[in-house]
Amino acid sequence: MGKRIGILTGGGDCPGLNAVIRAAVKVGVERHGFEVFGIEDAFSGLIDLDYRSPNGNRWLTPRDVRDVLGRGGTLLGTSNRNDPFHFVTKDAEGRPVERDVSDLVVEHARAMRLDGLISIGGDGSMAISQRLLEKGLPIVGVPKTIDNDLGATDQTFGFDTAVGIATEALDRLRDTAESHDRVMLLEVMGRDAGFIALHAGMAGGADAILIPEIPYAIEPLVRMVQARAEAGQKYSLIVVSEGAKPLGGDVSALGRKPGEMVRLKGAAARVEAALEGRLDAEVRVTVLGHLQRGGVPSSFDRILASRFGRAAAELCAQDAWGRMVALRDGAIVSIPIADAVARPRRVDPKGDLLEAARALGTVFGDEPA
Ligand code: F6P
Repeated sequence: MGKRIGILTGGGDCPGLNAVIRAAVKVGVERHGFEVFGIEDAFSGLIDLDYRSPNGNRWLTPRDVRDVLGRGGTLLGTSNRNDPFHFVTKDAEGRPVERDVSDLVVEHARAMRLDGLISIGGDGSMAISQRLLEKGLPIVGVPKTIDNDLGATDQTFGFDTAVGIATEALDRLRDTAESHDRVMLLEVMGRDAGFIALHAGMAGGADAILIPEIPYAIEPLVRMVQARAEAGQKYSLIVVSEGAKPLGGDVSALGRKPGEMVRLKGAAARVEAALEGRLDAEVRVTVLGHLQRGGVPSSFDRILASRFGRAAAELCAQDAWGRMVALRDGAIVSIPIADAVARPRRVDPKGDLLEAARALGTVFGDEPA
């Protein structure tokens, strides 16, 4: 008898998730004789075995993963609101309270007779997976996130697609900015890491890029816009990472609700307000938001996700529990999930990419007068 392997996607969705599921199911079933059990909406399907939204937990065969390689989203559903260690329920008065239901997750996985679980997720999901592993649940991890903020892997799938979408947005904004002589601010995702902003900004030829790793002042932006106008280029493009911070300030965010992470909002609007009245040109803001997460994955992301899915199935076959697949120097390797959790990736302000952007005249908001 082959193993029984559960598979779930956790955290925010990201282009390429379906490609991982497809590869893990095909390799698991066809090569290793696994029975693969799809768990719905991240850990929801393990917290409540009768959970239904909209399909519920279900067996997955190669037939179920036909034609999903190029589709965005995740056929298993996902959530970044159901951490079993901080699960939100209501108290007697109907107020939201956080509870630890992690024992229930382990118990339910045993009740389903799962030999192991493939957990596909970002830093949050890997931290949850590590804690469940320590409670005795055998887990193999697959890293995903458009933010590319996991230090353990050279790249996560989803990032390439998100950068492509943000680059296309800049190309489009350039046309209209030039027509109207406007300063266009494009806010992109990335949380505490500025990779999407830096890569899209470089690919789209942005005049300034504001990232969380380099606190910004407004004067360098004003000087850049004015210098361009004096040189005859009366428009400018500025990419603002959602986690960008002004010098001495903090991120722009909404308060944290129980069971949720802090929601970043308003980074570009804050730059717009600071530029207000200091420029001749009009300033406009575009927030790209979740457009960066949907749609077809790029071919790079499809390939990386497929390699990760295949490698995850192989790790399950080898009983290599507690390990996460990763990309290192072009090869797929595996590392302890614990290491992945401990090593966030951030843009190196002195790195080659940033220096190349500076050499090309891109402003980061830290330039001296
Ligand atoms: O981590 C991925 C990400 O898209 C971040 O870039 C962003 O801050 C966050 O998720 C948005 O999450 P939500 O879907 O809850 O708005």
